[in-house]
Amino acid sequence: MTDSDSDLGRLQVIDLDAGEVFSGQASGRLIKGFAAPCIHTPAIDPDYLFHDAMRELVVWIMTPSDPLYVFGPTGAGKSSLIRQVAAKLNYPVFDITGHGRLEFNDLAGHLTVENGSMRFQYGPLALAMKFGGLFLLNELDLLDPATAAGLNGVLDGAPLCLPENGGEVIPPHPMFRFVATANTNGASDESGLYQGTLRQNLAFMDRFWLCEVGYPEPDAEAKLLERLAPSLPESLRQTMVEYANQVRRLFIGEGDNQQPGETIEVTFSTRTLIRWASLTQRFQPLARQGVQPVIHALDRALGFRACRSTRALLHELGQRMFTPPA
Ligand SMILES: Nc1ncnc2c1ncn2[C@@H]1O[C@H](COP(=O)(O)OP(=O)(O)OP(=O)(O)O)[C@@H](O)[C@H]1O
Ligand SMILES: [Mg+2]
Repeated sequence: MTDSDSDLGRLQVIDLDAGEVFSGQASGRLIKGFAAPCIHTPAIDPDYLFHDAMRELVVWIMTPSDPLYVFGPTGAGKSSLIRQVAAKLNYPVFDITGHGRLEFNDLAGHLTVENGSMRFQYGPLALAMKFGGLFLLNELDLLDPATAAGLNGVLDGAPLCLPENGGEVIPPHPMFRFVATANTNGASDESGLYQGTLRQNLAFMDRFWLCEVGYPEPDAEAKLLERLAPSLPESLRQTMVEYANQVRRLFIGEGDNQQPGETIEVTFSTRTLIRWASLTQRFQPLARQGVQPVIHALDRALGFRACRSTRALLHELGQRMFTPPA
């Protein structure tokens, strides 16, 4: 065992008041959490604005449940939401990001050489099952479906067996939770833009509780920008949120004046919106040189990723929305 593993062995499970933890007001509803954060517990982000999906996540985490599959568009806040809920409850999070060559041993653990002798190093799944905590598998739909299906036993609540560690058998700790995130629902990528995602095995997907996370409502995103870019005028922040939503509509083919079947290839994630606001603040000095900071920042946050015609469309929309009437 490493120092960090023995820290995990000292974790203490306690009852917390769910209302107090999430809204600051006692509700009398108890939720299990840990007495104190450990090295694996994410730090609380004071600027984090909780999504509506938080309620579902809290209901899920309260009791040992089916594994959770959180899916939705890129940059909507899936991974951060899970980490922030965990942070509030002092849950350790053992995470890993899926990719095509990820193997079961990357999750369970493997033998390593340390000071000339062999030692078994627990993987994130083994640690979460042994000591309790969230096992967060990001981008699950990038995983080879056969590797993913190797998790079926664990998803069903079976113990994890580690043949390389002398056949150690790890029954799931009562505080073990399995959560995955992905951009697709595991069945298909309708947009064709999430390259590398794979259709997952039906029996594997059947084991999950599904939770869809979309982009936050405009009011919530406006509040987020108020926290993160307070020096920008409120009207500008609001127009930025409206602009982001227009681009999202263009992306799914529901924009104004779009012909049937016409779409653009980029969308406006909350991640991009935050970057745009931050760059707009930083480019303010350019206004003295006749450059419009919000448009200049738009290219750097999103526009440069788009093809020529989409970029022209984004500029035209930007000029229309951000140029004050003469
Ligand atoms: N509600 C929010 N409050 C504060 N920050 C947010 C919020 N939603 C998203 N963010 C920020 O946006 C960025 C992207 O969020 P996150 O990584 O959670 O997205 P994701 O949905 O997991 O994206 P991907 O599918 O690309 O992995 C993060 O830096 C996160 O802090
Ligand atoms: Mg993510």
